[in-house]
Amino acid sequence: MAAIGTDLNRFILEEERRYPNATGSLSLALTALETAAKIIASHVRMAGLADILGMAGRTNIQGEEVQKLDVLSNEIMVQHLSDSGYFYALASEELEEPVFPEKGKDGKYIIAFDPLDGSSNIDVNVNIGTIFSIHRKTHGGVEDFFQQGDRQVAAGYIVYGSSTMLVYSTGAGVNGFTLDPSVGLFLLSHPGMRLPERGKTYSLNESNYPGWEEGLRRYVDHLKEEGYTSRYIGSMVADVHRTLIKGGIFCYPSDHKNREGKLRLLYEASPMAFLVEQAGGMATTGKEEILKVRPKALHQRVPVFLGSRREIEELLRFL
Ligand code: AHG
Ligand code: MN
Ligand code: MN
Repeated sequence: MAAIGTDLNRFILEEERRYPNATGSLSLALTALETAAKIIASHVRMAGLADILGMAGRTNIQGEEVQKLDVLSNEIMVQHLSDSGYFYALASEELEEPVFPEKGKDGKYIIAFDPLDGSSNIDVNVNIGTIFSIHRKTHGGVEDFFQQGDRQVAAGYIVYGSSTMLVYSTGAGVNGFTLDPSVGLFLLSHPGMRLPERGKTYSLNESNYPGWEEGLRRYVDHLKEEGYTSRYIGSMVADVHRTLIKGGIFCYPSDHKNREGKLRLLYEASPMAFLVEQAGGMATTGKEEILKVRPKALHQRVPVFLGSRREIEELLRFL
């Protein structure tokens, strides 16, 4: 296992050396993502300030118009990933249709992403993130995005928290890197992340309780009786990050109003399910494994339940 403090670029290259047939293009694709993440992180750090500076004439000190951070993050992702040439197609929460970059014609991969997750938390200085999911290019059209989650070649997220972290997996476990802002490098801080077998926390928006199905209501009542504690940030990245480290369960179920739940399969549920399973946990819609769901639409939603094995197994007995 790589040593704590190993720089992300070196780590990616060392991982690649373990696969003699690897061409290196996935490694380079991940490096393009890392750069985009660093640029977004620097904008997130300036978020409050940019707004204040922008208020006077709607422009900042560079004379640029001040943009909403989720729009800006989307532009940074699209531009960097397109220019890298490694991606044949890109799908984003912020774009109705996929983008097929001119420079990506020979790209072997496609990527779906949520450029800024938890964006309602920006104004109150609470953790936000970026989520990504990478598959191989297959036919060369929009249907390439309709591959199951268990076919992901890489998935991960960046959490802009008290420090910035990048957590990802290429299918051989999950590793977390913390950005050292003084040198601008992501350094290995959380090697081989594993969810505890069982946790002490449940995480979901309990204001939706009246709209849940009966089984879920009984399950959450049961967790309270068992002495569980509740933690809910309202940024999926931050809530899943805590769940990966501390265990327990995170849910965004369906309710009377949102029959399919709220979270999007391709760039929220599926990459997070991949990470959680790679870290020894489980992820389900309540009816089937999230990684086995056959996508039908780019922005499709699914109910999400993920976390430690014991909690998910128990939940399934209630549903
Ligand atoms: P986004 O900011 O990308 O639209 O995602 C918001 C999502 C997700 O981050 C979070 O888990 C969920 O919305 C919170 O929803 P509620 O406010 O309904 O709890
Ligand atoms: Mn989101
Ligand atoms: Mn978003």
